[in-house]
Amino acid sequence: MNFYFAPMESITMYPLRNIHKDMFGADISKYYSPFVTAAKSKHFKNREKNDILPIHNEPFAKDNDTSLVVQIMSGNSETFLWAAKEIAQLGYKELNLNLGCPASTVVNRHKGAGLLSDPDYLDSMLSEIFEAKEKTDELKDIDISIKTRLGVTDENEALKLMEIYAKYPISEMTVHARVKDDFYKNSPRLDAFCNSVKRYRECGGKALICYNGNIFSKKDYESTITLLEKEGIANEVSSMMLGRGLLENPALARELAGKEALAAPELKEYLTKLYAGYEEYIPEERNVIFKLLEHWAFIHTHFENCDKYLKAIRKARSKGEYLAAVRNMFASCKFK
Ligand SMILES: Cc1cc2nc3c(=O)[nH]c(=O)nc-3n(C[C@H](O)[C@H](O)[C@H](O)COP(=O)(O)O)c2cc1C
Repeated sequence: MNFYFAPMESITMYPLRNIHKDMFGADISKYYSPFVTAAKSKHFKNREKNDILPIHNEPFAKDNDTSLVVQIMSGNSETFLWAAKEIAQLGYKELNLNLGCPASTVVNRHKGAGLLSDPDYLDSMLSEIFEAKEKTDELKDIDISIKTRLGVTDENEALKLMEIYAKYPISEMTVHARVKDDFYKNSPRLDAFCNSVKRYRECGGKALICYNGNIFSKKDYESTITLLEKEGIANEVSSMMLGRGLLENPALARELAGKEALAAPELKEYLTKLYAGYEEYIPEERNVIFKLLEHWAFIHTHFENCDKYLKAIRKARSKGEYLAAVRNMFASCKFK
């Protein structure tokens, strides 16, 4: 099984990706950038462009490493193709179309999961993209993958979507086993995921298939595999994309691969490196701390009876206070 680091807007930016790759990258086959918006103005937002510039992604820029995939948010073939050409010129070999973002600001603009509400439009958009790809020198050798949900409100929408996806030479299809209206809540819809995979293959779809949704532990992983085996599709799913599970446990992929569990000293080192990485990336100390707090919202689960210590971390308003509070957490709470 291959493991991928999911795109997470504002969290999995280059400081995190580079540090994670350096420490835990041996068990991650691909990292996905958060989406880069393909705007009608044909300009990238500075923050999004900076995130994918090779100069900021040095660990990925050597030895023909192709493990960083850039995700594009676009509501039509024209802007997608413009962005794809620009990004391909930076040296990327795989581009991923976002068909899952549930945010109303995105959906209302007919992008992300918004595209799933109009299968005929999505069909014509994909048709235009793949037709143009063949005729465009810069894109001919680029893989185009998708990351989709099962539908907008009803998981059965996936059956029609799979018919559409199967028509195109998509390199890999990641299915986040939820519908748009689930946002990130509820359990993943595993039965609907299995039915979608079957439908996709019945329709002749050839893409690699990646499962995504709520893999936080070895137990989650094994129960998902057991279900895929029971449904006879374990061999069809070649990868799993891990999102919040990797925020909680940066060594999750290593553990799922049957190797060592996360140790306290390496978590400490990871957090120290993240602080230094964000210090270069974010000008204000307070905002660096806020960024680290996003991680602590997940990471605190490794510490037993840590409420008091976590509160101190959350209250820190300077680097000194923050580092002292983190030291206390490691010194005082049992690591699990
Ligand atoms: C804060 C946050 C930001 C996200 N940003 C993106 C994004 O930019 N592109 C995308 O395709 N999915 C995005 N996602 C969805 C994740 O990639 C993933 O599909 C989702 O979290 C389910 O996987 P998980 O249960 O392993 O976390 C985001 C999720 C979260 C929680």
